[in-house]
Amino acid sequence: MRTKIRKIKESPELIGQNVTLKGWTRTVRNQKTFAFVEVNDGSTLSNMQVILDAGHPEYDSLLESLTTGSSVAVQGKVVESPGTKQSVEIHASSIEVIGLCDPTDYPLQKKRHSFEFLRSIAHLRPRTNTLGAVMRVRNTLAYASHQFFQERGFYYLHSPIITSSDCEGAGQMFQVTTLDKENPPRNERGEIDHSQDFFGKPAYLTVSGQLSGEIYASALSDVYTFGPTFRAENSHTSRHLAEFWMIEPEMAFADLADDRELAEAYLKAIFRTVLETCEEDMLLFDKFIKKGALGRLQNIVENEFAKISYTDAVEILEKSGKTFEFPIHWGVDLQSEHERFLCEEHFKKPVIVSDYPANIKAFYMRDNDDGKTVAAMDVLVPDVGEIIGGSQREERFDVLHEKMQKVGLDPKEYWWYLELRKYGSVPHSGFGAGFERLVQFATGMDNIRDVIPFPRFPGHSEF
Ligand code: 4AD
Ligand code: MG
Repeated sequence: MRTKIRKIKESPELIGQNVTLKGWTRTVRNQKTFAFVEVNDGSTLSNMQVILDAGHPEYDSLLESLTTGSSVAVQGKVVESPGTKQSVEIHASSIEVIGLCDPTDYPLQKKRHSFEFLRSIAHLRPRTNTLGAVMRVRNTLAYASHQFFQERGFYYLHSPIITSSDCEGAGQMFQVTTLDKENPPRNERGEIDHSQDFFGKPAYLTVSGQLSGEIYASALSDVYTFGPTFRAENSHTSRHLAEFWMIEPEMAFADLADDRELAEAYLKAIFRTVLETCEEDMLLFDKFIKKGALGRLQNIVENEFAKISYTDAVEILEKSGKTFEFPIHWGVDLQSEHERFLCEEHFKKPVIVSDYPANIKAFYMRDNDDGKTVAAMDVLVPDVGEIIGGSQREERFDVLHEKMQKVGLDPKEYWWYLELRKYGSVPHSGFGAGFERLVQFATGMDNIRDVIPFPRFPGHSEF
């Protein structure tokens, strides 16, 4: 039976025991009378130091085949290490090289590689310290997200990936079709005839699971989705992906204040879990990726977020004396430079901005009584900007019907969405948290493309 390195390091009762560990060789240092072999199996950031005695009958040939990247099985005794870098090490009785690693062209040599280069070898990059750490933190954030909502009585909803509705109304959808693209069927007007397509009408990859969330919240009260979402926006920024994961809670009988409360509690809970369970990985980010990453996360967990209205945010920006690339005035959407000024320079902590102008937000958001704003909220955090976007939903049939027509959505296409407002409508609210932005914020990684295993962005669907 194989024992993972993490388990060996966390189990003092294994000292003196014989174990088998399996992993990949990171480095070998030949000290003449023995060799240090550093093995990593990804269960934890740090390697296991294995000591191979020069008296081993195959010492020389083993050292030759133990190249960086080779996979190995090591049997040996766990002993307390005299070194200061690790608490335990393995005194090997046998080492078997399972898979040789060609040293002449293995791309992951000991030197540091740029993240751009590592993206081009996405099949090997999880073997690096940083990418391995990112993926462990990512895993913890996913687990903590489920835990948070489950403990609060939210049910996990699997919203569809293929859909015919455009939740955000932004027209950024990838079409899904089985029609012959060389020679599609056409109607009498010469347009492509989607009645002959697989779903009998145009279908797309979903941009959000919210509409499904609203349906199920209108029955189960509190639900959340956690799945992939897709946006065909031609963004080349460090914060946008064409395929990203989103967590979308939806609560019945809840207003915007409840929504803000949930968003803040959620962020604090998942980041607290990261601090508690990913200490070693977080120390790496703190030291090499983003100085102060640890303290920043601690601050978030411990302190209340700032809360302001969009109108007040605009006033702060106007009075800031800063020249922004995109001039700011009431009515325009906040750009990332504005969002970052608010949380990095003005408040120096996360900010929840509420009540945005109606005409820059989606059709489903609830109209406020002032006739110009909607009950929307965005959570902004340093470096990343918008990490969560949410709102109270318009629950009044007539108001929603009129808004749909105003933005050019056919109420007939959304008949089921409108019917929720006819049959026992309730005030309800929810939000969407961009999962990669959560990972990006927790780790301090610069580029969102490095916090998802296989990033999809314009021009890139490799791996
Ligand atoms: O603000 P958005 O567009 O809101 C919605 O989709 C709502 N339907 C959510 C809801 O209320 N249920 O997206 C929500 C979040 C953003 O705040 C951002 O964190 C992330 O999703 N996001 C992206 N992340 C990576 N790449 C992109 N292209 C993203 N677009 C949005
Ligand atoms: Mg948004």
